[in-house]
Amino acid sequence: MVGHSTAQLEGKVALVTGAARGIGFGIATVLAERGSEVAICDLSGEASSAAADGLLSDGHSVIGIATNVTVPESLNAAVSRVIEAFGRVDILVANAGVWASAGYEERPHYNDADWEITHSVNVRGVVNSAEAVVPHMQERGSGRIVNIASHGGRKPRGMATGRTLGFPYSVSKAGVIQWTHGLAIELAPFNITVNAVCPGELWTHMIRGIYTNRRNLTIDHSRDLSGGGISGDFALAMQNTVPLGRGQTPRDIGNAVAFLASDDAAEITGQALNVNGGARMN
Ligand SMILES: NC(=O)c1ccc[n+]([C@@H]2O[C@H](COP(=O)([O-])OP(=O)(O)OC[C@H]3O[C@@H](n4cnc5c(N)ncnc54)[C@H](O)[C@@H]3O)[C@@H](O)[C@H]2O)c1
Repeated sequence: MVGHSTAQLEGKVALVTGAARGIGFGIATVLAERGSEVAICDLSGEASSAAADGLLSDGHSVIGIATNVTVPESLNAAVSRVIEAFGRVDILVANAGVWASAGYEERPHYNDADWEITHSVNVRGVVNSAEAVVPHMQERGSGRIVNIASHGGRKPRGMATGRTLGFPYSVSKAGVIQWTHGLAIELAPFNITVNAVCPGELWTHMIRGIYTNRRNLTIDHSRDLSGGGISGDFALAMQNTVPLGRGQTPRDIGNAVAFLASDDAAEITGQALNVNGGARMN
């Protein structure tokens, strides 16, 4: 437990997309610990409720709602449900995201489905999330929106394969950053701030797939440089490439989101904050 007072977000209500696991769940946990009531919104209602139950049993006020960010009606229903349960929405964290389409672990190159899914979830999903909640925030004259982008959305890291698998993803995350800049200008007159957090690399379901892909594409498949399997590859890569020497944790990202969602960040809007141990500086 970190030494923050629950007062930082006391009385706030947050809706976090893609929060049944990984980074989203870390964000939901930190926001709840800082005093916020939280809605965990993810594809599966069962997984969302199970994640919420874990936080409820720690005494937090949390609900789980089945939500698909690619479907505006689904988000509208989620926002209505949160208002019904908690009275309002103060904070939107648009976190849901995908790396590529199914089966990418085995492919060196992107395909059409990768462009489609990264655009529909990572870009349109973030746009849809804001559109569902902004009219309500405008009516109330305040709000905080934090979009989860990636430091890969600022500077791509190609593999020189001609059609590097991660390009659709990094292009979609550049879109999230640009959307953040633009929306911040649009919503400033309504006292709504819009910022992005750009994580570096975290050992989640998503990154496990990426490192499986890298391992599969290595010429010598049996190569195990770290002696620790795929998670060892990840730890070694972090040690070698991140100035602070480790991958981030979901809690690291939650801490940055909590700050941007708090009154302490009242004068910060339109910014994209790297939380990456110094891996890329831009
Ligand atoms: N893991 C990393 O290293 C890393 C680095 C930079 C940015 N990010 C970003 O952080 C966010 C979370 O990533 P993660 O690593 O926790 O991934 P994850 O795959 O573990 O979790 C993503 C969550 O989003 C949900 N989701 C997917 N499509 C959805 C949809 N259409 N509607 C609602 N929910 C949906 C999934 O069900 C899942 O629970 C993503 O936006 C990702 O791009 C991750």
